[in-house]
Amino acid sequence: MKSIIDIVDLSVAEIEELIAVAQELIVNPGQYAHACAGKKLATLFFEPSTRTRLSFEAAMYELGGQVLSVSSADSSSAAKGESVADTARVISCYADIIAMRHPKEGAALVAAQHATVPVINAGDGGHCHPTQTLADLLTIMREKGTFNGLTVGLCGDLKFGRTVHSLITALSRYSGVKFVLISPEELKLPSYVKRDVLKKNGIEYEQTENLEEALPALDILYMTRVQRERFFNEEDYLRLKDHYVLSVEKLKNAKPDLAVLHPLPRVNEISVAVDSDPRACYFKQVLNGKYMRMALILKLLKEAGTL
Ligand code: CP
Repeated sequence: MKSIIDIVDLSVAEIEELIAVAQELIVNPGQYAHACAGKKLATLFFEPSTRTRLSFEAAMYELGGQVLSVSSADSSSAAKGESVADTARVISCYADIIAMRHPKEGAALVAAQHATVPVINAGDGGHCHPTQTLADLLTIMREKGTFNGLTVGLCGDLKFGRTVHSLITALSRYSGVKFVLISPEELKLPSYVKRDVLKKNGIEYEQTENLEEALPALDILYMTRVQRERFFNEEDYLRLKDHYVLSVEKLKNAKPDLAVLHPLPRVNEISVAVDSDPRACYFKQVLNGKYMRMALILKLLKEAGTL
């Protein structure tokens, strides 16, 4: 039973296939309108979400399937102490596939070990968020036509930002990719990502605190929110939250074909005036996420023998 817990659960070839299916869906949205008729997706979200939960649900409806939803821990028996393992076993009796978000790192893996249907990690604590990466990859492919040879700046909360960890892992499998890691000292990329992904694969990277100096060399700028929910004290969050604010003024020194991405939600880190710059791709990224989640649901249900 294939589940997607980490982006490396998908090979480069499988990601190419998903991108191809997503691009077919963009051109011909009705093509798979009944592909999942009679099938159910359960979305189990024990942490807040707008994009991921609703795009999974929109994806399943657009494939002709149905949705069962838990939108907060409080509204499920997790509030009574039920374990992730038991929850996964139980939901497998009702649904053909599960998308789960949980505040604890490793929770989706535990769910996958106990479920009898495919489990998709929709974000586990500060660890990873593979389907956001699928949205990011389709956006980069549509904007740049390639993953090879790109200089990718990641800016903000690189410590707790799970989307950053998954995107670095995914892009490290392509040739000539260089990363510029832009963060305050306290929010640097975790050493396990540097060791196990960047150093292990001989990927070129530099670390800086200075967004303005880094901007002119970038092909992609991936802005992130400071992850308030992962901080141990509010004072630190308040001190760091507005460290980077991308403005129209700062973008004057960037390449004309830069693509600005952000997994959203945005707080203050991209000024609203940037939204009308043609280089702002973050709302396109949202829509791309739905298409990639449609492609992923189709793939996993086919591989499970359900379709
Ligand atoms: N990008 C993302 O995961 O957004 P949500 O938290 O709204 O799902």
